[in-house]
Amino acid sequence: MIKISEDFCNTTTHVIIGKGSVSSLSEIIGDKKVALYYSRKLNVDKVKENLKNYYEFPMDDGEEVKDILYSLKLIRELFEKGFDRGDYVIAVGGGTVTDVVGFIASIYMRGLNLINIPTTLLGMVDAAIGGKTGVNFENVKNVLGTFYQPSFIISDIEFLETLPLEEIKKGMAEVIKYGLVLDKELYDYLAMHKDEIYSKEPEALETVVYKSALNKLAVVKEDERETKGIRIVLNFGHTIGHAIEAGSNFRIPHGYAISVGMVCEAKIAEEMGYAEEGVVEDTTWMLTHYELPITIDSLKENIDLRKAIEALTKDKKVRGGKVLMPFPTRIGNWKKVEVPLETLKGFAEQCLK
Ligand SMILES: NC(=O)c1ccc[n+]([C@@H]2O[C@H](COP(=O)([O-])OP(=O)(O)OC[C@H]3O[C@@H](n4cnc5c(N)ncnc54)[C@H](O)[C@@H]3O)[C@@H](O)[C@H]2O)c1
Repeated sequence: MIKISEDFCNTTTHVIIGKGSVSSLSEIIGDKKVALYYSRKLNVDKVKENLKNYYEFPMDDGEEVKDILYSLKLIRELFEKGFDRGDYVIAVGGGTVTDVVGFIASIYMRGLNLINIPTTLLGMVDAAIGGKTGVNFENVKNVLGTFYQPSFIISDIEFLETLPLEEIKKGMAEVIKYGLVLDKELYDYLAMHKDEIYSKEPEALETVVYKSALNKLAVVKEDERETKGIRIVLNFGHTIGHAIEAGSNFRIPHGYAISVGMVCEAKIAEEMGYAEEGVVEDTTWMLTHYELPITIDSLKENIDLRKAIEALTKDKKVRGGKVLMPFPTRIGNWKKVEVPLETLKGFAEQCLK
């Protein structure tokens, strides 16, 4: 088992990674009172085995649960069972479950102790880490949310045994992102270990989860509230990626949209003279190697170009007609650049048609 700890403003977050790591729960929780929220699709017997004093709340998962009314339903359960600030909330599931349960844990009585147990690769490498919680509103993602760090993140690789390969691929898009803009060593590791990762060898998955967690924690530690222009690096591929998601009415999964988004944004970086020659080629090679889409055509879904471009205009990072974007400069390095919105739209139109 691998353990990492990071201090944030108000909390220390401990990350425990490895096969069978949920067994550490018994020592962490003892006989404290726990609200155990979990996706009802999952078998969570091994989580329950390590708890003594808990109420279980099986729930749905998917984007529909990231909803304010659904959050109130979960909060009512906490209220009716008399939970208070000394108690624990545990979220077991993919990113949708940890996002909504994190949200309710942060607002109920101004915050209960939160433990995330991600069960998808995307959750283990990204969604469960970093303290962003949130639900969607009026069909726009994550409009309502909080920054709230979990006290523990337990990434038990055993959960990935039942995760379909398609879901592993979606998580790998975010892992490749870390390699491209933050971590050349991770990039090199990924170049060599695709077969082990896609055949779900525990050692390879552990390495990927560990290296990703280190990268994300380091960035969040520097800029927890996204005010210093550092956390923005995690958005590489996401400006165009979000436009693709919006242009497809969210039929294109996030992981695939950012995969194409990374290629487009790397091309823009190269054409604007920020990326060294070869960055686009290396980006494209790695995503193709991991069987991820690199063009709109390969997504096999129609994109409404007008809607996609409109989403760019509404992007949270647009300020005074400019968009703040993280561009790769060479593998494992990046630079923050202000791109005029009109320039970005021009590049995006070329990329997305
Ligand atoms: N808070 C953040 O910083 C952050 C970062 C990235 C993404 N997100 C959010 O995460 C969400 C996406 O996360 P996700 O891809 O995990 O989605 P998800 O929760 O919908 O899970 C994807 C699918 O995997 C299934 N599943 C989960 N665990 C499984 C397992 N062990 N075995 C078999 N099937 C399993 C689920 O039932 C679901 O069908 C989005 O809402 C996104 O906005 C949040």
